[in-house]
Amino acid sequence: MSKLIGPFKEVITLAKTPEKGVLADSSLLIIENGGVLVEDEKILKTGSFESLSKEADQIEEVESAHVLMPGLVDCHTHLVWGGTRARDYTLRMSGESYEKILEQGGGIFDSVEKTRGASSEVLKEGLVKRANRHLNDGVTTIEVKSGYGLDVGNELKVLEVVKNAKADIKADLIPTCLAAHVCPKEFSDKKEFLTYLENELLPQLLVKGLTNRIDIFVEPSAFPVEIAKDYMAAARKLGFDLTIHADQFHTGGSQIAVELGARSADHLEASTDKEVELLAKSDTVAVALPGASIGLGMQFTPARKLLDAGASLAISTDWNPGSGPMGDLLVQAAILGIYEKLSSAEIFSGITFRAAKALGLDDRGRIAVGKKADMIAFPVDDYREILYNQGKIKPDMIWKNGKQI
Ligand code: NIG
Ligand code: FE
Repeated sequence: MSKLIGPFKEVITLAKTPEKGVLADSSLLIIENGGVLVEDEKILKTGSFESLSKEADQIEEVESAHVLMPGLVDCHTHLVWGGTRARDYTLRMSGESYEKILEQGGGIFDSVEKTRGASSEVLKEGLVKRANRHLNDGVTTIEVKSGYGLDVGNELKVLEVVKNAKADIKADLIPTCLAAHVCPKEFSDKKEFLTYLENELLPQLLVKGLTNRIDIFVEPSAFPVEIAKDYMAAARKLGFDLTIHADQFHTGGSQIAVELGARSADHLEASTDKEVELLAKSDTVAVALPGASIGLGMQFTPARKLLDAGASLAISTDWNPGSGPMGDLLVQAAILGIYEKLSSAEIFSGITFRAAKALGLDDRGRIAVGKKADMIAFPVDDYREILYNQGKIKPDMIWKNGKQI
């Protein structure tokens, strides 16, 4: 049974928009007065609403003017945590640095203590609440990292929470293991900790089917380049997809990401022209995290330079209790866009199919034949209103797998 959804004043299809590099707004590939024909959770056809209405078995009519676009994809979050870091944020506002707070045993360590102390039920409640808020804002695919467990038992606990929460959340959750977030206090040697993860945790993730993605925070204060590379190479050998917290304060991470063929290198606030070039030549998606720049009061990822050099740029929230507490993808993408001088096409691609590419998913992020019918509609009659309103106009209709939620 096919179902026609529409009419929409504009359908931003991004149907054939290139995966890498600079984009003019003509590459939004907009259909005016358009409709989307859906069958079995997928997009069957797009085109003018009027002509499609002749072949549809059923019509789901949209009564007022709307602009339709693909459901948003957030390819970088840390949505499972216990406690709060309001104290850290207050300290940072008065000038204390993120790295100094971590060095003194606060920051990520504080979230680790609270996450270890929390029951699975409490952690799941927090995850469901945040993920549903994200879905209501139009985010239909959400990557979720562990990384506040830092030992085998607690990392498994957190990833099980993600697995079990799937039944309660209509957005797709894509789990990633970030056990190598920082070295826990029980280990005095970082290399030893990574060897422990490699031997004791990674094989279990595969057996239990908890994730096929591994992340690491590459930074002198977390894991330095040399030892991080060995760990990630071992993970790749086991068959995992890789993603890296790279070049947030110091460079080095993006180089490993490119060398190991990681799906994405995320952060990149400290990347210089050398790293920009490396990323642009590679197939690794560069992920800007404006929420972390806003949360830490630091410079944005050089998004314009990355695109000009030819990279694939995704934009994600980094929603986490420390550096990125806001968790609003559209607000953050709009802010990054005006500071970094991005086109609407570059921004919309960065929060849809380019973010999906960072997750290794090519079944979503475009309104095109054969893609998942994950779509969102804004109550506006011109796509330019969406970013102009800086994320404060939210979608008021959301379809996941072709069903309105
Ligand atoms: O992506 N930079 C490392 N990790 C997270 C922050 C985690 C935290 O501060 O709790 C990030 O910004
Ligand atoms: Fe992060």
